Amino acid sequence: MVEPEASSTRFGDIRWLTEVDSTNRYALDEARAGAAAGLVVVADHQTAGRGRLGRVWVAPPGASLLVSVLLRPDLAPDQRHLVVIAAALAMAEAVHAETGVRAGLKWPNDLLVGDRKLAGILAEASGDAVVVGIGVNLHWEDVPSELAEIATACNLEGGRPTTREAVLAAFLAGYAIRLDDPTGTRADYERGLVTLGRRVRVEQSGGVVTGLARGVDGAGHLLLRCDDGTTATIAVGDVVHVRAEETP
Ligand code: BTN
Repeated sequence: MVEPEASSTRFGDIRWLTEVDSTNRYALDEARAGAAAGLVVVADHQTAGRGRLGRVWVAPPGASLLVSVLLRPDLAPDQRHLVVIAAALAMAEAVHAETGVRAGLKWPNDLLVGDRKLAGILAEASGDAVVVGIGVNLHWEDVPSELAEIATACNLEGGRPTTREAVLAAFLAGYAIRLDDPTGTRADYERGLVTLGRRVRVEQSGGVVTGLARGVDGAGHLLLRCDDGTTATIAVGDVVHVRAEETP
């Protein structure tokens, strides 16, 4: 007997929408209405895409893969980050396989090429449901001037032409495997995390901390040796990699 691909058994319900406010909002509402784990929501265009830390996420129609996956992970709250880092790794691998572009991971789960962002992930929870939403820039005609220093797209990095469908299929296949391998996922995440060993500035609601990124603890928090000699454990924040010549 031929076994169905792990991704098609885990992610059986794929809904591709022309336009929606936010695929994360749509998937969370479906979760609250009782949708099963494995729902995948994709949109050509979002009118109110959500980013981390209350930001908006903007992408020209059809130029990015905008996808949200609904999971109901059987994990303790402090281990739920595993489904997010598994998504970051699976998307980095899918992008590399489909375009040849190699992205590094910035804590907690951005995909970067150099210092520019190729993809971002926003995980949102409701009860036992977690929605993992990813936006990955595949084919942008150009990057708006206000984003020029901070964002990029696969085509602008010399990537082979691809389609959102191909990247989605590669991502879901890899994600299904990674979700079943938390130990390997954690180890590969630390290997892929280009933040480690870098001087960073961490912007949090309570202020800014600077220091050296030393590691990640078991809950996925960033461990920092601060410039004032103390150590800090960062649960939430915006990390900026500080260039060697820059004073943080
Ligand atoms: C970030 O700020 O880095 C996270 C961005 C996450 C954007 C994606 S696009 C698909 C999904 N739907 C949303 O509204 N947001 C996420």
